[in-house]
Amino acid sequence: MASLTLKAIVVYYTRFGNTRKAAEAISDGIREGGLEAVICKDVKDVKPEELAQYDVIIFGTPTHYGGLADKMLAFMESLRQVNLKGKNSAAFDTRYVGEKTGGLEELEKYMKEFGMNIMLRGLPVLLPAGDAWGPIRNGELRKCKEFGTSIAQKIIGKNAYSFQRF
Ligand SMILES: Cc1cc2nc3c(=O)[nH]c(=O)nc-3n(C[C@H](O)[C@H](O)[C@H](O)COP(=O)(O)O)c2cc1C
Repeated sequence: MASLTLKAIVVYYTRFGNTRKAAEAISDGIREGGLEAVICKDVKDVKPEELAQYDVIIFGTPTHYGGLADKMLAFMESLRQVNLKGKNSAAFDTRYVGEKTGGLEELEKYMKEFGMNIMLRGLPVLLPAGDAWGPIRNGELRKCKEFGTSIAQKIIGKNAYSFQRF
């Protein structure tokens, strides 16, 4: 009987810890959605070439000056040397409530450039306006969990279909 182990990674940068909390809640959601092999890692512990082994890659960043945090930008640049074409992916950022755009739009630009498959609309995770340290607003971590669950369900649905056909 064929078995299917799909591996997912959530890669994030954080300065004050809020993006880590969001990343952990997304990872929990992915697990609850049925994908058990999920790892959640600070970008400082991730080597670019490591990403090639994952089926699903989620990127997260705090929004700094309307875009990506520098450390996340440097990491995304380093991924140019890795073949990520066709990898399932999604992005999230943390940002002030009311901000129309943030780091996730820049993450998605890279993901498109790398030929990755963006599975669902990116998730902005909200902090009170002007409060750079947070914490994240009430209810946002629940949204993160649901985001993770949707990712898992989409992946499982997609693979169930390919199993039916072959
Ligand atoms: C240098 C700096 C610039 C920031 N610029 C923005 C910004 O342009 N828009 C925004 O919504 N939040 C901005 N913020 C707030 C961040 O969104 C917030 O600090 C971050 O989401 C917290 O995530 P972390 O705890 O993972 O570091 C900025 C924060 C810092 C430290």
